[in-house]
Amino acid sequence: MAESTSTKSLAIPLTAFAAGAVVALLVGVFGKVHDPTLAGTTTFGFRTVIDMKVVVSVVIGVLAVLQLIGALWLYGKLGIAAPSWLGTAHRISGAVAVVLLVFVAYHCLWALGLESGTLADGEPVSTRTVVHGVLGCAVLGAVVVKVVAVRSRRAPGWFLPVAGGLLFALLIGAVLTSAVWYIGAQGWPGSGGY
Ligand code: HEM
Repeated sequence: MAESTSTKSLAIPLTAFAAGAVVALLVGVFGKVHDPTLAGTTTFGFRTVIDMKVVVSVVIGVLAVLQLIGALWLYGKLGIAAPSWLGTAHRISGAVAVVLLVFVAYHCLWALGLESGTLADGEPVSTRTVVHGVLGCAVLGAVVVKVVAVRSRRAPGWFLPVAGGLLFALLIGAVLTSAVWYIGAQGWPGSGGY
């Protein structure tokens, strides 16, 4: 009986990881077969789509760091008692971060796609761009795993922190290889650096 309970609960993370991998793969395939276009995108009032993505990605990166700190606090790892409102605040800011990241990822996928090899003009795609695209696809798969982890009551205790840590690591990787690289190379969007 104990064995069947543990097998059952392990089935939840295993199924979630499999579903997340399928989602990441399908997003990547879409990024390869779709013809990139700016139609159906928005600058959100910024000068260009890239400016908008850089600024929103910085907000997402800050929210991700706050999510990590909040999670450690809720798990009692900071040595100070967590206030009663922290759980709700963590959920709301997490939901905002997911909406923003799906929004930015859509703009990357739709307007640029998953780049590799050489571009139409014969220029080789940089390793950074390839790594960014692959991380971007993996982030969307990790969102699926994280949502399952948050919702499932019967999964083992390690599942939620592992799912959260995986999402955090992939997301920070995607932001470092895009917005942070961009600001380092070109300056803050609209600051006259390019
Ligand atoms: C769905 C998967 C994703 C794909 C396939 C993808 C692909 C791309 C590509 C090809 C570029 C252009 C890179 C270049 O030529 O310089 C780009 C830029 C960018 N991406 Fe993504 N991306 C994805 C997800 C994300 C996510 C999740 C974020 C942030 C949370 C993000 C943020 C950015 C930003 C800020 C830029 C502009 C800076 C730059 O040019 O590197 N992307 N993306």
